[in-house]
Amino acid sequence: MTIADALTFAQTQLSRFEQPQYEARELVGSLLGLTASDLMVKEGILLTPQQDRELKEWLNQRANGVPLAYLSGVKGFYKHEFIVERGVLVPRPETELVVETALARSREKRLRKIADLGCGTGCIGLSILSEVPEADLWCLDISIQACGVAAKNATKLNLDEHVFVLNVAVERWKPKHALDLIVANPPYIPLGDTRVQKSVHLYEPHEALYSGADGLDALRVWTQKSAEWLTKGGLFVCEIGAGQSLQVGAIMAEAGFTKIETARDLAGIERVLSGVMTHG
Ligand SMILES: C[S@@+](CC[C@H](N)C(=O)[O-])C[C@H]1O[C@@H](n2cnc3c(N)ncnc32)[C@H](O)[C@@H]1O
Repeated sequence: MTIADALTFAQTQLSRFEQPQYEARELVGSLLGLTASDLMVKEGILLTPQQDRELKEWLNQRANGVPLAYLSGVKGFYKHEFIVERGVLVPRPETELVVETALARSREKRLRKIADLGCGTGCIGLSILSEVPEADLWCLDISIQACGVAAKNATKLNLDEHVFVLNVAVERWKPKHALDLIVANPPYIPLGDTRVQKSVHLYEPHEALYSGADGLDALRVWTQKSAEWLTKGGLFVCEIGAGQSLQVGAIMAEAGFTKIETARDLAGIERVLSGVMTHG
C-alpha cells in the first residue's frame, strides 16, 4: 500500500469521526514521521509490511475510542504542539481560554513568578511562559507521568531554563517565593457523573477528571492555597465545569479574591474564572 492508499484507507476507516481526513493525516503522518506536506510529496512511496500492520492496529484502537492524541503522540494547543502520552490528559481547546484570560489580565503587569497547578502536559503554563519568557514557571502535578511529559514539553519549547517541574500534590507544596500568577485546570467532574464521554472515562487518567462528590474538592483547596501564595495584586485563573461558576465564584470571594471575572468558551459555557488577590 502506498502513502496515498494508506490515507484513503484510514479516512474510510475513520469515517464515523468528525474530521476523518484530518485524523487520517495525523495518524499516517505520525506513524511515518512525516508532516502533512511531506505526505503529499511522498504519496507514491510504499509502506513497509510493519508500518502497514501498525497502521491497522492504530486504526483499530482509534475505532475503539482511544483518543487520537494518544496514538499520534501530539496535540496542538494555543500556539504550539505538545507531546502527549497515555496517562496524561489530552489538552482541550477550551482550556486555551485560561491562557488567553491570564495573558489579557496580566498585560499591565510584569510577570516574574508563575505556577501551573495540575500541569498535565504543561500546556497552560508553558503557553503563557512562551509569551513572557523572562518569567519563571513552577509546574506541579501529582502524576509522575504528567511531570515527565511537562518536562519534555519544556525542553521541546526551549523553555526549560525557566521551568521547574515538581511531582507534588498542590496540598503539600510550600513555595519559597510569592507568585504573580497562578493558573489551574483542576479535576472538576463529580465522581460517578454519567454524562462523561465513555472514551474519556475509559482512556484518560481519573485523577485528571474527577474530584469529590460535587467535583469541587480540588477547586476548594487550590483556590485557598492560591490565595495564600499570591503577591498583593496577583492573579488566579482557573478552568471550571459547566454550571460551576456561581459556586466557584463564591469560593474565590470567600478566599479573598476580588475583581472576579467569568469568561465563556466558544460553546457559550462559563468556563474560566479569574480574580485578583488584594489582601496579599
Ligand atoms: C484536568 S487535568 C489538567 C491538565 C493540564 N493542565 C491541562 O489543562 O490539560 C488536572 C491535572 O491535575 C493533576 N492533579 C490531580 N490532583 C492533583 C493534586 N492534588 N495535586 C497536583 N496535581 C493534581 C492531574 O494529575 C492532572 O494532570
